[in-house]
Amino acid sequence: MQRAVITGWGKCVPPVRLTNADLERLCDTDDDWIFERTGIRSRAISHVEGTDLAELAARRALACAGLEPPDLDLILVASTTPELLCPSVATMIQERLGAANAAAFDLNAACSGFVYATATVTGMIESGFANRVLVIGAEKLHIAMDYRDRSHCILFGDGAGAAVYEASESTDGESGAGVISVDLGADGTKGGTMVVQAMGTRGEPYGGQPPEKTRLHFEGQAVFKIAVQGIAGSAMRALERAGMTADDVDLVIPHQANARIIESATRRLGIEPERVFVNIEHLGNTAAASIPMAIHDALQAGRIAPGDIVVLTAFGGGVTWGSIVLRWGYRTEPLGTHEGELPPTDATVFDLLQSNLDFYAPLHPDA
Ligand code: UT7
Repeated sequence: MQRAVITGWGKCVPPVRLTNADLERLCDTDDDWIFERTGIRSRAISHVEGTDLAELAARRALACAGLEPPDLDLILVASTTPELLCPSVATMIQERLGAANAAAFDLNAACSGFVYATATVTGMIESGFANRVLVIGAEKLHIAMDYRDRSHCILFGDGAGAAVYEASESTDGESGAGVISVDLGADGTKGGTMVVQAMGTRGEPYGGQPPEKTRLHFEGQAVFKIAVQGIAGSAMRALERAGMTADDVDLVIPHQANARIIESATRRLGIEPERVFVNIEHLGNTAAASIPMAIHDALQAGRIAPGDIVVLTAFGGGVTWGSIVLRWGYRTEPLGTHEGELPPTDATVFDLLQSNLDFYAPLHPDA
């Protein structure tokens, strides 16, 4: 059977950082509280559009896979913060790369977006529709952050990650590389726990939208509980479908929502921290971008070996959840590198956030 194998990986993190010390100047919080409750020390704030981050992550993933843009059959972008409603980020990337043979569309499953996209791609590859697919998770989340509201602004950061999936003829049955099983789910009755009413992150501040519509409404404690249950239950179901148990897993790469969520969920699964990849400390929660960036970082850190059983698992707004069990292929080193960089900036983080602070100021008349 044809399986979907990851053959390329890349990430793009914009250079300007928002540290916990910076946040202390913006709202009533402190470094110790943030690090202890979330595992986060800093996150990136993008000086360019999310599509620019997506493009660079994509070019890096393609070089890693040794592919050229015309080789692609499909480009799928998972994002909660697309630049525009239409055209999709995926079609903008198709145009920029010159991937003329690729279909292209966006998908929104919030922080579960990369797992939903992987499940979609798996179906398309297994059915024979596509052989080479570029999946990107890209977010410019700072646009929805009200930096005077400590309940959510400490968590989220900007960034993009990309993966190339290729069809592999698995001639060796159970031991063949690629996606082995999928679990997806959603519970729309809990959708009110994370809400952003407006869409479109192009430019700053937002064209014509009132601040209460673009700001994230976030019920952190409720989300925390649902996330722990959601991740643990979903990963367990995906393992069962693969005919495996937690003992078979070499590495869990979870959505990086909060280090405590990851710890609680993987403890429920019976997987010790040594088999869990966490890179939230200097990225924060980057929603759909977190898992592809974590895949990149896990490979770079030597945490994935050929043939390893890897579990991707996520939870996000909607609410949505999903897990993937896959067997890694034979290659853990890039075939090539893309040397491009984002345009440089001299802006400080406070320069980048000024329009955001001005925009949300009417929500804090007493501040
Ligand atoms: O990617 C998927 C979506 N996102 C998530 O999965 C995130 C889910 N939620 C969380 O990560 C956590 O719930 C938060 C990090 C948002 C909050 O952590 P918590 O441990 O649930 O804190 P809490 O809301 O229970 O608040 C505990 C205390 C409260 O003070 P009192 O009432 O005990 O005096 C809060 O007012 O901490 C206070 N607090 C803060 N203090 C300093 C809340 N936020 C902050 C803050 N800085 N930023």
